Amino acid sequence: MDRTMSESSTEATAEPTFYPGRRSASCPFVPAAEIRELAAAGPISKVRTWEGKQPWLITGYTEARELFADPRVSADNHHPSYPHIHEGMKAVAELSPRTMFNTDGQEHARYRRMLAKPFTPKRLEAMRPNIQKHIDETIDAMLAAGNSADLATALALPVPSLMICELLGVPYEDHAFFQEATELGFGGNATAEEQQQSTLEMLGFLNKLIEAKTENPGEDLLSDVAELVRDGELQVWEASLQTVGILVAGHETTANMITLAVIALLDRPEQLAVVRDTEDPQVLGNAVDELIRYMSIVDTGLRRVAVEDIKVGGEVIRAGDPIVFDLATANWNAEVFPEPGTLDLTRPNATQHLAFGSGRHQCIGQQLARIELGMVLQTLFRRIPTLRLTVPTEQIDFKYDAMVYGVRSLPVEW
Ligand code: HEM
Repeated sequence: MDRTMSESSTEATAEPTFYPGRRSASCPFVPAAEIRELAAAGPISKVRTWEGKQPWLITGYTEARELFADPRVSADNHHPSYPHIHEGMKAVAELSPRTMFNTDGQEHARYRRMLAKPFTPKRLEAMRPNIQKHIDETIDAMLAAGNSADLATALALPVPSLMICELLGVPYEDHAFFQEATELGFGGNATAEEQQQSTLEMLGFLNKLIEAKTENPGEDLLSDVAELVRDGELQVWEASLQTVGILVAGHETTANMITLAVIALLDRPEQLAVVRDTEDPQVLGNAVDELIRYMSIVDTGLRRVAVEDIKVGGEVIRAGDPIVFDLATANWNAEVFPEPGTLDLTRPNATQHLAFGSGRHQCIGQQLARIELGMVLQTLFRRIPTLRLTVPTEQIDFKYDAMVYGVRSLPVEW
């Protein structure tokens, strides 16, 4: 549902501010002005959403951490008060059984364990040579095609997509199909029908792959869940629903971070040099976390509902109240991150950000994302030192209205 101008205004209205806010073309990395205003006024406030709900908005860093760790805060998206992101997400929630994304406590832990195998530090470290190979080959292809490219489609999307395909055991030849379905789902404007349709298509696609892997397992995550199907622990479609989120979240988020990081670093040569020149994995890791903090790309907030009364930030959240966490403003809290609007890749506490969430549902793929981002950026700037944008920042097609912030295309030359 579209907002009107008056809906985004915070002035002279008794109505709470509309959420989510929108970043502006004049400062595309800065959190939405109206949400920064709320954050400046206090760590917790009320906003209103597309369906007329008035959830609590958590913008305070400490309060967010506290609530993410609180078992009285539930991720149950079947709860009648749950503040759905948009109509399409609500429609999909109605279809979905219980998964890692919408459960709490022991049940959530059980689902998460089923999918955890590829995300252990040892397995991720072992992926590095393969990630490097994909990055090198993708850059080779880009260079062979001329002296300009759309970096989003030539590099940022292919590398994480190739890796998530390998991790899950999905054929990369099908990338156009799942990338389009993801773009639709994350776009923020999908109708309920479109969202349901794209989810059903993705599930049908995964069902077939998982069924095949119950007969012929490989060394991948779909084979892990296929084993649970064979053992009668999960139905095929449940296994698909557990893994579809990994396929979706596993490429689009990292791809968006890559393009945004390139834009920011090309504009700040001294910061770019930190990434390009370091041989120290800790320095690179810290730089990547600062980029992730600074961008805080999950733009529509993390959604929850209170199941008991909770006192926080001078307010009482009542049982049944919807809650939204705004990660961008929490990550731009000046008390925790001094001069938060300065991208400082040597920031000492950069890793303390909340851009991957916090608590039980904290991003399962965060380490993979960090590894990919660091390796892609370092290789890109080392191999193409003359890389530059071909359009001014104001003309870049930023995703102001999407669930995950990023760009639709990034014209570059060298
Ligand atoms: C820069 C890249 C990424 C960002 C910013 C990001 C952000 C997030 C955030 C904020 C959450 C918390 C959701 C919540 O609490 O409701 C989350 C959860 C999750 N992410 Fe990521 N993510 C990224 C990359 C990835 C990758 C690469 C994968 C998979 C390979 C992935 C898979 C997941 C999954 C499955 C969850 C749900 C975990 C749970 O509910 O227990 N993410 N992510």
